[in-house]
Amino acid sequence: MPAILPYSDASIDLAAAQLRLGSVVAFATETVYGLGADTFNPEAIAKIYALKRRPQGNPLIAHVVDLSAAKRVSSGWSRRSMKLISACWPGPLTIILPRRPEVPAIAAGGLETIAVRSPRHPLARSLLYACGGAISAPSANRSGGVSPTTAKHVARDYADQSDLMVLDGGPCILGIESTVIDLCESKPVVRRLGAVTIERLSELLGPIEVDMPVEQGASPGSSIRHYAPTREAIIVDHGQLGEILDQSTARGSVAAVVCFATSEVAPPHIRFDMPSDADGYAATIYDALRRADESGCDRIVIERPPHQYGLWSAIHDRLRRATTP
Ligand code: TXA
Ligand code: MG
Repeated sequence: MPAILPYSDASIDLAAAQLRLGSVVAFATETVYGLGADTFNPEAIAKIYALKRRPQGNPLIAHVVDLSAAKRVSSGWSRRSMKLISACWPGPLTIILPRRPEVPAIAAGGLETIAVRSPRHPLARSLLYACGGAISAPSANRSGGVSPTTAKHVARDYADQSDLMVLDGGPCILGIESTVIDLCESKPVVRRLGAVTIERLSELLGPIEVDMPVEQGASPGSSIRHYAPTREAIIVDHGQLGEILDQSTARGSVAAVVCFATSEVAPPHIRFDMPSDADGYAATIYDALRRADESGCDRIVIERPPHQYGLWSAIHDRLRRATTP
């Protein structure tokens, strides 16, 4: 099992030293836990791909403490990008800009662009201050799996990695990944829905195009099946839930039901109650999917949340990918 270290000056110093030596360290951010390595060390970055079993062409986000650190990895900072970061940094907004040639290509999956984000979580910020540069970090799940929102989730995913250090910053407050916006085109394009809503981005920049390519597109990580539990998972409307569960009962199949308090779920099915507000739902959905996956059920049945606006759009995106066969 990896070592889980509570957040302290000593653990931050230790982790920063590990990063400087070229090791990979897992750490908390306000969105999900990340698996980090020094952006400027190509061998260290290669270890992230190997650990995560991530395809080499899927680029990573460089985490930075502030704008001046961001400018050491990316160029093309315009008024548009300044406006975005003044409003959203530190926080869950990732910006794609041209990559500086000093940044090893592997840190961006070989692309000429690089994604940058300044996280808000105090632990992530302390780590960035302590190591002074940039930390490239994907979500700390195995490729395609459910993102981790606690240190224990990470430790479980990498149970075979006793050398891995996990910096425990508590459960992630937001619980859903950052929004990824591409500023390399003439118009801003959202490549991944996330914790900063489209409504908020439109207030700042005007109308926003959303283009989330499936499989190998501009955001190679946005494959349609993603964020997925290991068991079969389906999504159903509130009105269909009773019938689906009756059918399961008749077949002797046990469902783990991720649902709202208003839904009826009778044994042998197991219920996982979700908050009805978007913030609460986002903060707990990955933990619920993981617990459902480990419940011994035959399949996971998710009740489709009724709302479509704001943060719910990103939640629907994740649920759709988690339930794609
Ligand atoms: O909230 C988050 O963003 C978390 C925490 C740890 O910061 N990180 C995260 O990283 O979700 P990851 O690697 O799991 O997802 C990053 C997404 C992927 O879909 C990737 O393809 C896309 O961003 N991406 C990264 N760099 C890109 C680039 N240069 N061009 C297009 N897409 C890029
Ligand atoms: Mg990810």
